[in-house]
Amino acid sequence: MLAELLANLGVTDDPRLLALGPQAERAACDQGAVCRNPTTNEPLAAVRLDDAEATRRVIAESCDTFAQWRCVPAPVRGRVVRQVGEEFRRLREPLGRLIALEMGKIAAEGVGEVQESVDIAEFALGLSRQLYGLTMPSERPGHAMREQWLPLGPIGVITAFNFPNAVWAWNAMLAAVCGDVVIWKPSLLTPLVSIATHAIADRVATQMGYPGVFRLVMGLDDQVGETLIADRRVPLISATGSCRMGRRVAQVVGARLGRTLLELGGNNAVIVDKDADQELALRAVVFGAVGTCGQRCTTTRRLIVHRSIADRFVERLVNAYRSVRIGDPLSEGTLMGPLISPRAVEQYLAAVEAAKAQGGAVLTGGRRYSGPLHGRAGSGGNPGNFVEPTIVRAPADNRLAIAQEETFAPILYVFTFDSLDQALAMHNGVDQGLSSSIFTESARTAERFLSPDGSGSDCGLAYVNLGTSGAEIGGAFGGEKDTGGGRESGSDAWKAYMRRQTCTVNFGGRFDLAQGIRFE
Ligand code: UN1
Repeated sequence: MLAELLANLGVTDDPRLLALGPQAERAACDQGAVCRNPTTNEPLAAVRLDDAEATRRVIAESCDTFAQWRCVPAPVRGRVVRQVGEEFRRLREPLGRLIALEMGKIAAEGVGEVQESVDIAEFALGLSRQLYGLTMPSERPGHAMREQWLPLGPIGVITAFNFPNAVWAWNAMLAAVCGDVVIWKPSLLTPLVSIATHAIADRVATQMGYPGVFRLVMGLDDQVGETLIADRRVPLISATGSCRMGRRVAQVVGARLGRTLLELGGNNAVIVDKDADQELALRAVVFGAVGTCGQRCTTTRRLIVHRSIADRFVERLVNAYRSVRIGDPLSEGTLMGPLISPRAVEQYLAAVEAAKAQGGAVLTGGRRYSGPLHGRAGSGGNPGNFVEPTIVRAPADNRLAIAQEETFAPILYVFTFDSLDQALAMHNGVDQGLSSSIFTESARTAERFLSPDGSGSDCGLAYVNLGTSGAEIGGAFGGEKDTGGGRESGSDAWKAYMRRQTCTVNFGGRFDLAQGIRFE
């Protein structure tokens, strides 16, 4: 299956691929890493890693490429990005399936992820003719003022395992039309998708006469990551991942006064008010909490439900959870695949234990899943990283310390509220501020949640009558507080990838100073 997918994607001969399948362990030695199939924990492949020196070499080469790429007119850069998007469209199925195989999300979500890359490529193409600056009136006669947006440089993009294709694309497609060269450091948990994604983009760009615009450096954090973030030749580091990683990136890049664009952890809640369309809310919460096996930064981790409907709503939710088909992510009909690694399973179990110790009641789930896998015959007692989707109800006083943390797993903590103010306080009472949602039929309640005075949701994404995950690419994506404050993807997020220049021209020829200062 893997060999066939790689062949379909045209990456069989990639020099980074040391060995596929059972030979992987032996081939890895000290210059390579082994990636595993989370469904079985068998080795998928061994891949060659870059070290610090290779990273510095790539940065140097990227500086040379940047000197040329910045001079290519933006609409022509847009054409390259369009072709990359077209290639992703053509390869949507095999690439989506490779994501499912290596990362463990179900194939429908894998294909959806590639669609997100196609969408952002289309967006970036349009943008390539719309990198608008403003003109502004000068206070001086005979002067003209305007601002323009200029290419920034080679930029570093650090991505996590959970969106191994799309998060790179959000960054890379925009950065490329902005005239930047993209140096990508992907997660070592999903090297195959990264190799394929990079190879596709690089193939297209090279065929169009622009090799080296999309670069890949793959290796350990202390070799590749640290080298990339410390290098002054890289003016922007866009990083997606844990708050711990983001703090490190912010410190190192901040110390050299570089720029960061951080998209870090979330601890996203759905508020379900008493007048909500409960059917709609139920489906959104199940998708938001269980989808991608709870491994989206936008995953619904907390449910804050009105006391008057809580028992019945939670009961329906528990029933829905029990019917979630757990199994092979590549099989039709599976709704939940495995977690990414045995370590993620340990973290899931530890969070459940902590919840219990803190007085939480496990209403469903809470254990490793060892039942039969949907789409895999005779797979009881499977060796993969499967867990049960879990609902924990907080004690009556709504205190549950573990719910302050983002555990990258399908655990939903349930809280109850009486007043909207109380719900909002609970909603905003966590360190992270990525995605948020409310279900209500009341315009007043909805507007209160989105209040323009900022007293409603404190998150970067706020939804009414839809769940916390599954954003469209057209809006700016990112969050506040410990989520890092960065914005990627749509709206004017492109500005992060360019430098702004305020230009003033004295065409009148008179010596006039601003603020009316006389100096004579
Ligand atoms: C992520 O988990 O890092 O809104 C990104 C969503 C997706 C992106 C998630 N469009 O859930």
